[in-house]
Amino acid sequence: MSRPSSILITGASGEIGHSLIDRLAAASSKPIVTLDLNPLAPELARKVKQQFTGDIRAAELLERIVAAHEVDQVYHLAALLSTRAEFSPALAHKVNVEGTLNLLEFAQKQGESHGRPVLFFFPSSIAAYGIPTLAAKTAAGQVHEDQFNFPTTMYGANKLYCEHLGRYYAGHYMQLAAETLSGKIDFRCIRFPGLISAVTVPSGGTSDYAPEMIHAAAQKEPYECFVRPDARIPFMAMPDAAEAIWKFVTCPKAKLTRTVYNIGAFAPSAGEVEAIVRKAFPEAAIRYELDAKRQGIVDTWPADVDDGAARNDWGHAPQYGLEAAFGEYLIPQIRTRYAG
Ligand code: NAD
Ligand code: SER
Repeated sequence: MSRPSSILITGASGEIGHSLIDRLAAASSKPIVTLDLNPLAPELARKVKQQFTGDIRAAELLERIVAAHEVDQVYHLAALLSTRAEFSPALAHKVNVEGTLNLLEFAQKQGESHGRPVLFFFPSSIAAYGIPTLAAKTAAGQVHEDQFNFPTTMYGANKLYCEHLGRYYAGHYMQLAAETLSGKIDFRCIRFPGLISAVTVPSGGTSDYAPEMIHAAAQKEPYECFVRPDARIPFMAMPDAAEAIWKFVTCPKAKLTRTVYNIGAFAPSAGEVEAIVRKAFPEAAIRYELDAKRQGIVDTWPADVDDGAARNDWGHAPQYGLEAAFGEYLIPQIRTRYAG
């Protein structure tokens, strides 16, 4: 029985999944299949061919997907994020690393069976960096992909290792076998900054203070920011993240000079985010209640990233800078969301 080639999105019920399903459904005619612990929101479920509910570590679930679909693109989003992972490091390793290994094996077998490489998109993070001191962070400025690859969190270590796993599968898989088995996966990876969405609220991450601040203000709820006003990391509006994924995966492979790319858009301090939120919502009750340990994690992440390779190779060009992200996307959409 011939089956149409399909897209598989894991972790599809999460924040990026929401945006990516919309973006892929609009841009591609391929059927979309999803896998997540949680069911999709009904408006998203309508855009996918079939959703599977369960754990990425369950081999029988992946077998059920293969039995029904020929998968030639995998967007592997399922993960435990940085704060959650730090409370359950062994579980994080199982989900973030063993889960990714399962999906890479799945993609490898799909590539072997249909004889063309399976696209495998992996979302890494600025958490893959570990800058040793605040002075070094300030001095470093925009960090290049190959600097400071010494993460201090389980999540960051998981991401960095999975970047290498993907590179291994794509280029060196079972290199001692008689037959050449590498090249069945076209592994592509973006290291995302903190993402801010108007339609979902994050949980379990360490960059969550910026999105939490604006969503709380719009709902007239008080917010205690867990980092210092001068804490600075790069952020991006969610539509630009989905657009970047699409641009990246549709770029001819010959133009790519790396497997793993930084992307950036704007890099405000928490205090700068607060000022913009207060201007839009003058009644906002924001105060700082420092969590020194979460702040410690943010201090190891870069203040900004050098995304020159992404701009040069595949045309990364975010639509939203800081002012536009808040003024044209976040504030209007979040106001509407919570109105009435
Ligand atoms: P999210 O927490 O909103 O979504 C993750 C999804 O994965 C959830 O729907 C969850 O139910 C699912 N999931 C978790 N464990 C699972 C398991 N064992 N089996 C099946 N599903 C499971 O996260 P997000 O913000 O959408 O992030 C998606 C990906 O992008 C993650 O890999 C994350 O590390 C990465 N990323 C996110 C950001 C960000 O700021 N949001 C930044 C950099 C990288
Ligand atoms: N935004 C994510 C987090 O804070 C980083 O990948 O966990």
